[in-house]
Amino acid sequence: MRNSKIAGVGHYVPANVVTNQDLEKIMDTSHEWIVERTGIQERRYFTAGTDTTANMGTKAAVKALAMAGLAASELDLIVFATLSPDYVFPGSGVLLQRELGLKNIPALDVRNQCSGFIYALSVADQFIKTGMYNNVLVVGSEIHSSGLDFSDKGRAVSVIFGDGAGAVVLRPTEAENEGILSTHLHADGELAEELACLAPTSNKKERLTQDMLEDGSIYPYMNGQTVFKNAIIKFPEVIMEALNQNGYQTKDIDMLIPHQANLRITSFVQQKMGLPEEKVFSNIQRYGNTTAASVPIALSEAVEQGKIKAGDLVCLAAFGSGFTWASALIRW
Ligand SMILES: CC(C)(COP(=O)(O)OP(=O)(O)OC[C@H]1O[C@@H](n2cnc3c(N)ncnc32)[C@H](O)[C@@H]1OP(=O)(O)O)[C@@H](O)C(=O)NCCC(=O)NCCS
Repeated sequence: MRNSKIAGVGHYVPANVVTNQDLEKIMDTSHEWIVERTGIQERRYFTAGTDTTANMGTKAAVKALAMAGLAASELDLIVFATLSPDYVFPGSGVLLQRELGLKNIPALDVRNQCSGFIYALSVADQFIKTGMYNNVLVVGSEIHSSGLDFSDKGRAVSVIFGDGAGAVVLRPTEAENEGILSTHLHADGELAEELACLAPTSNKKERLTQDMLEDGSIYPYMNGQTVFKNAIIKFPEVIMEALNQNGYQTKDIDMLIPHQANLRITSFVQQKMGLPEEKVFSNIQRYGNTTAASVPIALSEAVEQGKIKAGDLVCLAAFGSGFTWASALIRW
């Protein structure tokens, strides 16, 4: 059976840089607290009227297409991962399709939060492996900053998240031991509300009420310690699952691209797995946690910086809201 390979990768982050010092001015927090607990120094926030979830995805996609040497018109499928779509419906996939000037090809939206990009990649990979499609665009894009609670009450969550987009173009390869070797997807809804945004909701007589606006349920809620404890178990587990399935060991990894959840989580995983620091990519310092966009932004920067080269064994891994977790093992 043929594999799919990442032929192009690209990212776009909004121009507006927001430092920890900027946040100190609007809430009771400190640069030291944020750096010590998360590693984040700054993040990007979108500019209303300029950036949208769909158009940031489009900008990342255009770069990925250029690297792949493909015209948008050659795409067979779009898979768009986000938890912050432009509209309640339709999904952002059709908006990106429209921005690329495409008609008729399918646009599929994936909503698996921090694992969204790897879920989307896996979906795309299956379509290529079965021969149904050849050229597939996979996008992760998020605008968090318009949905965060910037009062002191929301500070533990709001300092973590940022906006941005990343994209890859997948194409088939007949070469043996090349491209996406396997993907691994998991979910456990038991703790769904421990990292969630509960409003607006279809479960109440009205989807959005004054109460929801006032009690903060329109903002993301995170039980940070529960997320942390689960993340540091599931990251190594799902990375090992990918290595074991393909007969590799930790030492064979050339580059691990973890979802940029929190630098402390990444360092914990790196140490627990005995990986040298230079084989684990981190850019959360500059972008914060961009959920579905974090893995493709990190992958794009790693490629841009020459940290991934042909033949390298690259592992992508993510954990987040759902809880969901996932990995992909790639021979670059
Ligand atoms: C969110 C997280 C950084 C909070 O760290 P923590 O050590 O658990 O901190 P706590 O929530 O127990 O809060 C500790 C103190 O810091 C305070 N605090 C919370 N946010 C703060 C902020 N932004 N600035 C300053 N102080 C803050 C709390 O109010 C609390 O104060 P208290 O001791 O007076 O009550 C940590 O739980 C974490 O990293 N979790 C994983 C989150 C994650 O990666 N999410 C991504 C999802 S994929």
